[in-house]
Amino acid sequence: MKALILAGGKGSRLRPLTFTRSKQLLPVAGRPLLHYAVDAVRQAGCSDVGVIVGHTGAEIRASLGDGSALGVRITCIEQEEPLGLAHALLKAQDFVGDAPFLMFLGDNLLQGSLAPMVQRHLAEKNAATLLLARVPDPQRFGVVQVQGERVIRLEEKPKHPASDLALTGIYLLDGRIFDAARTLRPSARGELEITDALQVLVDRGEPVVATEVQGWWKDTGKPQDLLAANRLLLAKGSRIDPSAVLTCELRHPVYVGPGARVQGGRIGPNAAIGAGAQLKQATIEDSILMDQCQVQGVQLSQSLIGQGARVSGHGAARLHLGDQCLVELK
Ligand code: G1P
Repeated sequence: MKALILAGGKGSRLRPLTFTRSKQLLPVAGRPLLHYAVDAVRQAGCSDVGVIVGHTGAEIRASLGDGSALGVRITCIEQEEPLGLAHALLKAQDFVGDAPFLMFLGDNLLQGSLAPMVQRHLAEKNAATLLLARVPDPQRFGVVQVQGERVIRLEEKPKHPASDLALTGIYLLDGRIFDAARTLRPSARGELEITDALQVLVDRGEPVVATEVQGWWKDTGKPQDLLAANRLLLAKGSRIDPSAVLTCELRHPVYVGPGARVQGGRIGPNAAIGAGAQLKQATIEDSILMDQCQVQGVQLSQSLIGQGARVSGHGAARLHLGDQCLVELK
């Protein structure tokens, strides 16, 4: 079975980091989000993976290569303008063909295996099998109403949600979705919505079924989501590259990348320190520090520090800094 990973979009809620890099390449527990998505589709049995890319396509191509390092074959597909998930899907019709396929939004993280859901989708020959999660803030998502396991109604980011069941961004589909997507008009946010294409399938009486996620799932749209994902992934255990030099207090779990140097202070719990980062007398917990950043003296928590950014001074702070930023706390 083929998989399609969507890796376009502007990532506006993760600015300033996404001014200079793709949202899907932000690192969590030491790896880009997109690499976890590739792992998930490979583990679901898909080795032929199409990746939809937008204006950050060059970066994404550089990060994935031909896919062999991640155990899959990657084909990048251009979406020139971010006109919605259903629009992206239509761009991939030639790649996918009519057969069943897995569509996975590249900023989603999932703990459990998709293999049982795939088996069911194939066995029941559903037009769509949707992975749902119960969420406290359904207004942020596509929201689904079900009768038993059958989906009866879907709505994208409703003001008054009819349920707390959100579309996770992980969909099993087949060729029937293309025909449905072609009937759509842009939504209020100016996009062709996959949620609306699914409603077209429901209205046509096609079998659209839902299954609830087991274990955790994270949509990493906002800074606090990235930090939560970082905690969940670090909970599997610390990883410290042998080339890192640490002379500091350590509170597990942590990730420390190649060539990082940490002198004095403390890192952890839940600190991810990128490759080549240099820390002196700093206290870092519940934070992601990207490659080559430099932090001196300060105490950081719930912070995202961009690549090559420099922070120094005294006292405690919570910072969301883009790449190459400079902050001196007096
Ligand atoms: C998209 C989908 C939405 C889904 C969400 C999951 O929203 O449109 O239905 O619930 O992904 O991450 P977006 O991230 O584009 O706002």
